Amino acid sequence: MNQEIQNRLKEIQDSAIAAIAAAGDEHSLFQLKSKYLGKKSEISDVLKSIAALSVDEKRSIGGLANTIKTELERVIDERADALLNSTGGVALNTALPGIKPLTGHLHPLTLTMRELKSVFIRMGFCIEEGPEVETDYYNFEALNTPPHHPARDMQDTFYLSPEILLRTHTSPVQVRVMKSQKPPIRAIMPGRVYRNEEVSARSYCLFHQIEGLYVDKGVSFADLKGTLDSFVKGYFGSSVKTKFRPSFFPFTEPSAEVDVQCFLCNAKGCPICKHTGWLEILGCGMVHPNVLRNGGIDPEEFSGFAFGMGVERIALLKYGIDDIRLFYENDLRVVSQF
Ligand code: PHE
Repeated sequence: MNQEIQNRLKEIQDSAIAAIAAAGDEHSLFQLKSKYLGKKSEISDVLKSIAALSVDEKRSIGGLANTIKTELERVIDERADALLNSTGGVALNTALPGIKPLTGHLHPLTLTMRELKSVFIRMGFCIEEGPEVETDYYNFEALNTPPHHPARDMQDTFYLSPEILLRTHTSPVQVRVMKSQKPPIRAIMPGRVYRNEEVSARSYCLFHQIEGLYVDKGVSFADLKGTLDSFVKGYFGSSVKTKFRPSFFPFTEPSAEVDVQCFLCNAKGCPICKHTGWLEILGCGMVHPNVLRNGGIDPEEFSGFAFGMGVERIALLKYGIDDIRLFYENDLRVVSQF
C-alpha cells in the first residue's frame, strides 16, 4: 500500500515536470500550478487516502509529498523566469525599443510673445500689465477718443455695461502706467485684447498686442524711428528695412504705421505681401498732449512716443500660417509642430 502510494506520487511528479517544461506562456504555467499544487490537486487526493495508514507510514508519505511539492514549485518558478527572458511573445521583451513619453512644449503664440519681449528687454524696456476688463474711460476717453468720436468705429467693442468693456487694445495701459510712474518711462505692455468682429481666417474675437511707451524730456520722432528700426532688425533680421507711412490714431500725433520688408519673399513680391514687398506690422506715433495730460504728465515739459503691434499677425507671418483660428483651436496636429 505504502509503496503503491509512493509510486503514484512519483508518477504525478514526472507528469507535472513534463507538463511544466512544455508550458509555452505564463497563463498555461499558472493553470499547471493550480492543477498540481492547488487544493484540489492529485497530490491532495492521494494524501486524503492515507488516513488508514500507521503514523510512521503517514509521516514518510507526507514527507515525500512535501518534497515533491517544493520541487514542483521550484520547477515552475524556473520555467516562469525562462519564459520572461525569452523573446517569444511573452510579458516583457527587454529587447524592444521603449515608447517615448509625450512631452509638452510652448504654444507658438507664447514663443512669439517671449521673443518679442526679449528684444525690448534688451533695449531697456520693462514690462507692465493692465486689466483686460477695462473702463470706457481708459480704453477711449483718456486716449483722446470721446463718446461719438468716429475713431471708436475702428474697433468694434464688447461692452459689459455702458461704462465697462473688454479692452479693444493695450493702449489704456499707457495711461495707467503714466499715472503710476514718473518719467523717464520706458515700458512695454503685453496682453490680450478683444474685438467684436466676425471670426474668420484673418480676425478673431480675441488676440494679443504688445504696447510700447517711452516718455522723457526731449523724446522726438527720430527716437521713435530709431527704436522701432532697432526692434525690427533685432527681431526680423539685421538686413530687414522698415518704412514709416503716415496714419491716424486719436491718441498719437503725428501717427504712423510701420511696414517691414517682406521676409517671406525677400521683398520680391508674394501673395502674403500682396506683391508689394512690404508687410504692415504696427501702429505708432508721438503721444498726444491730451493723453500725457490725462496721465498726469505735463506736455510742456515731457514728450513721448507709443506703439502697438498685433502678436498673432507677427506669428502668422513668421510661421507662414494662413488662419488665425489655428492658434485658438489647440489641435495637437498643429501645435505640436512648434
Ligand atoms: N492701439 C492701436 C491699435 O490697436 C495701436 C497703436 C498703439 C497706435 C500705440 C499708436 C500708438 O490699433
